[in-house]
Amino acid sequence: MAATPTAPQSAGELSFRPGLEGVPATHSAICDIDGQQGLLTYRGYSVEDLANHSTFLETVYLLIWGELPDADQLAEFEHEVQMHRRVSFRIRDMMKCFPASGHPMDALQSSAASLGLFYSRRALDDPQYIYQAVVRLIAKIPTMVAAFQLIRKGQDPIQPRDDLPFSSNFLYMLTERAPDPLAAQIFDACLILHAEHSLNASTFSARVTASTLTDPYAVVASAVGTLAGPLHGGANEYVLAMLEEIGSEDQVEPWLDRAIAAKQKIMGFGHREYKVKDPRAVILQQLAKQLFDTFGDDPLYDLARKLEAAAAERLGPKGIYPNVDFYSGLVYRKLGIAEDLFTPIFAIARTAGWLAHWKEQLGANRIYRPSQIYTGSTGRAWLPVQSR
Ligand code: CMC
Repeated sequence: MAATPTAPQSAGELSFRPGLEGVPATHSAICDIDGQQGLLTYRGYSVEDLANHSTFLETVYLLIWGELPDADQLAEFEHEVQMHRRVSFRIRDMMKCFPASGHPMDALQSSAASLGLFYSRRALDDPQYIYQAVVRLIAKIPTMVAAFQLIRKGQDPIQPRDDLPFSSNFLYMLTERAPDPLAAQIFDACLILHAEHSLNASTFSARVTASTLTDPYAVVASAVGTLAGPLHGGANEYVLAMLEEIGSEDQVEPWLDRAIAAKQKIMGFGHREYKVKDPRAVILQQLAKQLFDTFGDDPLYDLARKLEAAAAERLGPKGIYPNVDFYSGLVYRKLGIAEDLFTPIFAIARTAGWLAHWKEQLGANRIYRPSQIYTGSTGRAWLPVQSR
């Protein structure tokens, strides 16, 4: 006879918080969120200032090394990233064996992990090793995302163009044509907005993996796998499908009422940290508007704004407002990017945050090993298979 489950240990139960909500798991000096006021800073700089005035690579440098680079440091970092954009033909050949129907996040997770095979030296206390690992990952992740996009269409990946800066080059490798400079600038700002967000699920995953002192490619691969889920980075892919399902502005309210009655999560809404509109959604909305004003309207934008207004009445009192994923898809769609690439693009950006946390974790490492409250059976007598 099976023994009954034991009662939860009361002392543990007192401290147990599902999803670790509100439980500090580390000290960090990288990013700060004020979820009541809708403020987000990277290393003390507001994300608005960075999105308006910085570049993604400058932001990467800031996140990882804690200070904005001076002109020489920035030029060197940009040059190094440019020099390391190419990926080995062996990785491209490996990617050609991936099923074309596979999700690009799975392709990215596998190819990111494979970098560990090529750069196996591990010297976690050597600043030069850290620098090179950062350069390689920041440079090669976009190339691998673009390569899989062409490979799954039956084409050969195209090589990076040395005359194009980071975001223009990525869009070029993806779409096979150099983008309009404004489009590239808006895309670069999107990367800044997605670059870091404190201890979200994928970053926590990165820190846990980092704490074992494994290599940085495994750190990023584990974080990519975590980001892929629909409650995290995967949500942006579903927002457009949701808007298309709603179909027209007159359907917004009935659709929303049905969804809320069915206790369905509205994709692109809600956040563990923010009880007001996510500041990144505010900026992304401005960027979307800028794109539509320049390159032509998107009817889904009007529908999205109507949904936001209707949701504010119904979900606002619970502190549920648009998050970063709500408007990003509309921007990417206008740039001609396939929906299932939205999360890989999130990963391109968030690699910066993951690596900043990797470096910070190494600086004061203790392996993560939380406890649990055992709720299973105890004292069961083993029986031979014939007697069960
Ligand atoms: N639509 C409708 N109700 C919601 C939503 C939503 N999007 N989000 C939360 N709620 C409700 C939820 O039903 C619950 O209500 P009740 O207390 O009555 O049962 C309450 O709000 C608390 O929800 P929760 O799921 O316990 O909150 P959480 O902090 O665990 O979840 C979240 C945060 C982001 C997972 C959740 O808001 C969600 O699933 N949102 C939709 C998916 C999404 O857009 N994800 C992207 C997040 S931002 C980018 C990123 O970090 O990757």
